Amino acid sequence: MSAQKPIFNRVAILGLGLIGGSLASAIRRHRLAGQVVGYDKRSDELALGESLGVIDQAANSIQDAVQGSDLVVLAVPVRATKTVLEEIKPWLDDAAVLTDVGSTKSSFVADVEAVFGSRSPRVIPGHPIAGSEKSGIRAANPELFVSHKVILTPGDDADEDALSRLTALWQGCGATVLTMSVSYHDEVLAATSHLPHLIAFSLVDTLAGEDENMDIFRYAAGGFRDFTRIAASDPVMWHDIFLSNRDAVLRVIDHFTHDLDQLRTAIAAQDGATLLRVFSRAKAAREHFSKILSGQAFVTNHSEKQVTFRLQPGGAVSGEFRVPGDKSMSHRSIMLGALAEGITEVTGFLEGEDSLATLQAFRDMGVTIEGPDNGFVRIHGVGMRGLQAPRGPLYLGNSGTAMRLFAGLMAAQPFDSELTGDASLSKRPMGRVADPLRAMGAVIDAEDGGRPPLRISGGQKLNGIHYEMPMASAQVKSCLLLAGLYAEGSTSVTEPAPTRDHTERMLSGFGYHVYRDGPTASVSGGGTLSACNIDVPADISSAAFFLVAASIAPNSELILKHVGINPTRTGVINILKLMGADIEVFNEREIGGEPVADLRVRSAELNGIDIPEDQVPLAIDEFPVLFIAAVCARGRTVLRGAEELRVKESDRIQVMADGLAALGVNAVVTADGIIIEGGQTIGGGTVDSHGDHRIAMSFAVASLRASGDIEVTDCANVATSFPGFVELAQSCGIHISAEGA
Ligand code: S3P
Repeated sequence: MSAQKPIFNRVAILGLGLIGGSLASAIRRHRLAGQVVGYDKRSDELALGESLGVIDQAANSIQDAVQGSDLVVLAVPVRATKTVLEEIKPWLDDAAVLTDVGSTKSSFVADVEAVFGSRSPRVIPGHPIAGSEKSGIRAANPELFVSHKVILTPGDDADEDALSRLTALWQGCGATVLTMSVSYHDEVLAATSHLPHLIAFSLVDTLAGEDENMDIFRYAAGGFRDFTRIAASDPVMWHDIFLSNRDAVLRVIDHFTHDLDQLRTAIAAQDGATLLRVFSRAKAAREHFSKILSGQAFVTNHSEKQVTFRLQPGGAVSGEFRVPGDKSMSHRSIMLGALAEGITEVTGFLEGEDSLATLQAFRDMGVTIEGPDNGFVRIHGVGMRGLQAPRGPLYLGNSGTAMRLFAGLMAAQPFDSELTGDASLSKRPMGRVADPLRAMGAVIDAEDGGRPPLRISGGQKLNGIHYEMPMASAQVKSCLLLAGLYAEGSTSVTEPAPTRDHTERMLSGFGYHVYRDGPTASVSGGGTLSACNIDVPADISSAAFFLVAASIAPNSELILKHVGINPTRTGVINILKLMGADIEVFNEREIGGEPVADLRVRSAELNGIDIPEDQVPLAIDEFPVLFIAAVCARGRTVLRGAEELRVKESDRIQVMADGLAALGVNAVVTADGIIIEGGQTIGGGTVDSHGDHRIAMSFAVASLRASGDIEVTDCANVATSFPGFVELAQSCGIHISAEGA
């Protein structure tokens, strides 16, 4: 930094309080300006600023400070802004950039317009979100802004050079700079900063007023201390802020007063359900906020979070463990539990980002959900008609299943909704559900090509239809059956090949009759669901990585416990056995309407096969790792009839072929499948997983038979379906580490 040219020649800081002083000293420390001149009406503070070395020079007058400065920073109390602007007006250079550090931005812009007649493009209001209960120049701290946010609110016609230099200045002080509109800034701050300060001041005042000796505070515990810390902030500054941001603050106070009143009513009426609902929703939101702070929430943009797997070649796998819960069943347990009458308890719930997004979406619609706590979730069902309109879009992360099943449910609700997802989900086709739903009477708007977000109009009457599915998709089938619960008459779906039937089984478990006639499943609308308990088995799709790992790595033996072996999901076992794998299925039992077993798998010599087409829908998510098995087998493996793989979280045929090619393995891509000659050497190299969790985990497994180090990029989404994958893989013998996790 020191070798670089300063960003401004001469910076005038008007007002040497905590923020003005800290900014001055940060600019000096990092040599971001040629000279920092300070001015303050309080001559003692000004002299102190110079003697403490916070500023280079104390100006004798505001004229001295402003004239010749190419950046002028107002760091005065918000209510003093207008007077100071009037004082600087005659001396401000035309080319100078003018900014401030106040907590409210509409008031600053209004003052600028009042004094200057209009807002010049070089006026860029600012607000560092940093502070402390300390005030005054003695508290000035050049590190105050490090890792804090600074919000700039440039106008539409802002001078680009001014904005980029001001941004660079704050970044040079260690801050992260965000830009937003003036009005949005004031709304956001009213809600997240001004209201909490008001409540803290008011609460402490109420308690102190009730007890003149303030004895009551002797008994106050940590909660009180945490909650009221901000009531010790500067009263003058805060009285300014409330008066300056009056409209936005009044709106948020009204909203809060209304919600507080509701809690009062609930307590008066002994209405525990409302209390529990509000508290659990708040707890979830607070935990989510903690995750945002530590950068792990599912709403954090995964394209920004880069996780790379590093793998060393070779190894054998051994051990006995249970992989996380089934993703398909976890989603469905929340959906049906929420719509049931009564309380549903779920064990074995998958705490992956996708199923957590589904859980959050139902909380957003007013459902009380306790947990998850080690796979345990308690859902307080609201009944078929009990969902409430969410306040914003429902965010469904990476999950095609969630979006398609939600589409069926939301089409039948009395309120409008919008379904959104991450970058990968936003590219996936939703016409396959929107079209038949429209035929039932739903009103759904999508982006070009039927892509998300889906905007669904509420209050539509749905009619049952018969639908012949053009593709074998459990998601489409489930979507229509869920919409059918609300439709007039019967809704039936015929599938071209058997697909997973968890929706049908779980509906039966909740007491809703599903008629079966060969390939056709149907429901009659208008019934109710009764709460029940659900034990989610381990996900066979997650177990699949270890079935292949133990098969291809010499001297391996694994036991995978409590795996769901629903016959509509066991294609991976069938295919691996056809290839010669040594897999034993034992301890078979039925739990909550789903078959479960333990699986023992040992290393085996695999042979290439023509994969029977009837197995394709039964192993649809397992093909990426089956391709790795095929590379390690003797002879050729041919897959056909699997065009659906091209519209999963990535184009799994092409992305796998590209990944294999990066490791020196040839595969022939066809329109609906792939041809892989077994026995090729897997070399070292870098594979791009394209953010697809199953591709990333498949190449981790490939390392067991590789000849060199493998790096797999873009792996953050592994957390959507398999939290703890890296640790589990390490513990059983795969030489894996994750960077950026
Ligand atoms: C799923 C169905 C399958 C599968 C997905 C989960 C489900 O998708 O690939 O991971 O839970 O219904 P399709 O229905 O698109 O085949």
